[in-house]
Amino acid sequence: MSLRGKTVLLGVTGGIAAYKAVEVVSRLRKQGAAVRVIMTKNATEFVTPLTFETLANHPVVTDTFARPETWDVAHISLAKEADLCVVAPATANILAKLAMGLADDMLSTTLLATKAPLLVAPAMNTGMWTAEATKRNVEILRGRGVRFVGPEGGFLACGDTGAGRMSEPKEIVEAIEAILHASETLRGVKVMVTAGATREHMDPVRFLTNESSGKMGFAIAEAARDRGADVTLIKGWTTAHVPDGVKLVEVSSTQDLYDAVTALAPEMDAVIQAAAPADYRFRETSGQKIKKQKGEPLTFTLEETPDIAAAVGRGKRPGQVLVGFAAETEHLIEHAQKKLASKNLDFIVANDVSQPGAGFNVDTNIATFLSAEGENPRPLQSKRALAEDILDEVTRRLPGKDA
Ligand code: PMT
Repeated sequence: MSLRGKTVLLGVTGGIAAYKAVEVVSRLRKQGAAVRVIMTKNATEFVTPLTFETLANHPVVTDTFARPETWDVAHISLAKEADLCVVAPATANILAKLAMGLADDMLSTTLLATKAPLLVAPAMNTGMWTAEATKRNVEILRGRGVRFVGPEGGFLACGDTGAGRMSEPKEIVEAIEAILHASETLRGVKVMVTAGATREHMDPVRFLTNESSGKMGFAIAEAARDRGADVTLIKGWTTAHVPDGVKLVEVSSTQDLYDAVTALAPEMDAVIQAAAPADYRFRETSGQKIKKQKGEPLTFTLEETPDIAAAVGRGKRPGQVLVGFAAETEHLIEHAQKKLASKNLDFIVANDVSQPGAGFNVDTNIATFLSAEGENPRPLQSKRALAEDILDEVTRRLPGKDA
């Protein structure tokens, strides 16, 4: 694959595998990519900046303050310029810094600032790779959408045998190609994602809602954005961090969500409804805070809210892809099948929200895709990884696209 027109920012951290990063630069340059290199201070103990400079045909940045004569771009410019950031080799230290958001040198500062996708190729001693702290950091990074290549098992420079060897340059470059290719797969495609909970007020200070954090919908919006889609994110009440680089529409009640979604749906190529709208609202809402009537039960009448997905399903145009979710606590497949049909969806993502690690307000999910083609159970995985699976399915169904 030609990488002409693409800029890859390579971060090299301090490990013996730094010498293999030289070949990564060489391969990327041969494929036409522009390569910018940032080395940590420790990395320069293993390979000289001159080696990378010669191959990248560009000055290497080694520290925020040192070598200002060769530093013609600020870290923010580097962060903006990159189509993809790669850290190879990635030490346990840089993984920990990335997970924590530490920014104490040129590389960590740049990586914190960038909006580009990030690929890391870990390389370290087996004990460090399998340490609880590293495992946790890897989990945090994967949850944020950071991609990993390797590490491989085998004989390590320290004499140990086990997982921790950096992947070969060929594999790292293949992973880079795959990500850059994926970043184009939804270019020009209009994707709408709904996320979060709605609120149905009984009075100005009390309401009916649910535990949706927005994490699932946000992961889909981010993954679609990273594939080049034009993303509209319609969000209700959420607690998770709202993604950048998307068109944001904020709503409160299910009626607001209905109005926003049905207004925009006709112009969308794909609509993915991960929000958890309230199914019922108070028939009457008090304009003032309802006072406590001592000893008296308080009775409300609830009425159904409009079914947004069903309305979008009725207006579905040829070629449009509609995806819904089903949040169930029992009879998952049976209930989800009914929703698939009644809402005229292309497929539904059924999650049993009573299972540990699935559903509301956690970073992972366990889902089964249901469609006319049958059932496709997905494993326990990060919401970002599930989002990628969902987008593969969407892409496959879009006219003229192929995941
Ligand atoms: O936000 P998180 O904390 O990450 O949690 C993720 C999640 C559990 C909210 C998500 O994975 C999920 O399951 N979302 C759907 C929640 C839901 O409302 O499910 P449901 O089975 O009640 O609804 C089925 C579908 O109809 C959903 O696509 C829903 O958006 C839609 N719906 C529901 C009610 C309504 N009035 N109109 C609708 O369109």
